[in-house]
Amino acid sequence: MIKTRPLSFPKKFHWGFAAAAAQIEGAAFEDNKGPSIWDVFPTIPGKVHNGDSPEVACDHYHRYKQDIALMAKLGAKNYRLSVSWPRIFPSGRGPVNPKGIDFYNRLIDTCLAKGITPWVTMFHWDLPQALEDEFGGWRDRRTVDAFATYADTIVQAFGDRVKNWITLNEIYCFIHQGYADGTKAPGHKLPAKVVNQAYHHALLAHGHGVRAVREHGGRGARVGLTDNCVPMIPVTETPGDIAASQRAFIERNVRVLDPIYRGGYTATYRKIVGKDAAKFQKDDFKLISLPTDFLGLNTYTGEFVRAGKGGKPEILAKPRSYPAADATWLAHASQAMYWCPRHVAEIYGVKSVVITENGAGYDDVPDAKGEIMDLHRRDYVRCCLRELHRAIGDGVPVDGYFLWSFMDNYEWQDGYRIRFGVVYNDYATQKRTPKLSAQWFSKVMDENRIV
Ligand code: NOJ
Repeated sequence: MIKTRPLSFPKKFHWGFAAAAAQIEGAAFEDNKGPSIWDVFPTIPGKVHNGDSPEVACDHYHRYKQDIALMAKLGAKNYRLSVSWPRIFPSGRGPVNPKGIDFYNRLIDTCLAKGITPWVTMFHWDLPQALEDEFGGWRDRRTVDAFATYADTIVQAFGDRVKNWITLNEIYCFIHQGYADGTKAPGHKLPAKVVNQAYHHALLAHGHGVRAVREHGGRGARVGLTDNCVPMIPVTETPGDIAASQRAFIERNVRVLDPIYRGGYTATYRKIVGKDAAKFQKDDFKLISLPTDFLGLNTYTGEFVRAGKGGKPEILAKPRSYPAADATWLAHASQAMYWCPRHVAEIYGVKSVVITENGAGYDDVPDAKGEIMDLHRRDYVRCCLRELHRAIGDGVPVDGYFLWSFMDNYEWQDGYRIRFGVVYNDYATQKRTPKLSAQWFSKVMDENRIV
């Protein structure tokens, strides 16, 4: 008789959903929240699709109770949310806004009451606009000082109930895309030297996030960075291509992972960055390389690599017909989910990887019956989970998986056009409808295996 072998995950594997404040909360100017750079960016013509702003988004600020109830109904035991810095410090620093603290107290308590463990990201891109206006945002070290106080404040406020902390989300995106190519807020196109300095400041902020958790997090507190290092997939799983993919991985991701895991700017960093290297102070790397408890990976896509002449890595261009999501950067390279965790474990000795985001963005449309048959999303996520399962089976230490995202939300410069949710959001009525992928993922979480 033919039997299906269950593709089970380890017993204590953490399944959950992920989202971020600016993408779902709305209430952008309510209860004393200060503007963030993402409230201002959409007003710059041509920067955001349709000029869409996060002002209302999913109105989660007012609907969080029903959202968390739905999340619980779908069986999530973990939820990765972020705190909005300008809700806590409307001007980035200075007096704390008690109404901001109250909101996250209510949100965290609601999660806990529903049996959902909150994983809290300190910074998911919504920098207070005041810090951009006064200091030039991450270009200036004073933003790091402001972040340190903010991190201390939120860990002190929520650390009695929040035990899983993520310092920063995707340094590459908010630094490179914010200051080098200008596709994300604050939308600058600045010289490489300035950009590398901004990277350095982000690394310092990460260090402060870790320090804040160690100082104020209390018993059982854990902390890590969420990185979106570019996965490098060997075209053939043979020693030559694997070695080339490792080299390509180090080189492409040198600005973030090397300083954190190797405690400094290595020879590889200096070779790649050259005269544009960041300036640093004597003790900076003590902070930057403070040990963490896990590394969060946001893994959506990857590059294919083969060994060229003398083993030199060659990154292959993807042909036009390579399958992708409607978010066109998201080529469906599911093997990234095997190789990215493996590379960070093998290269940097990471002992615990948590997939803090994976998913796919499309222009989903309800059918005549109002159902959303997103088989495309289900298939891609399923392929990714198979690769993750294989990685765990091979001994890669992966401890959790968070699906991005719980519901459709504000997709930054793509506005509301691209939907990443497994729950459909009708923005006109704010009605939430679980898609087919939500029903499927709910079973995955429940049975702790790929169904
Ligand atoms: C990464 C980001 O962290 C998240 O905010 C974004 O919406 C998703 N990827 C999809 O692009």
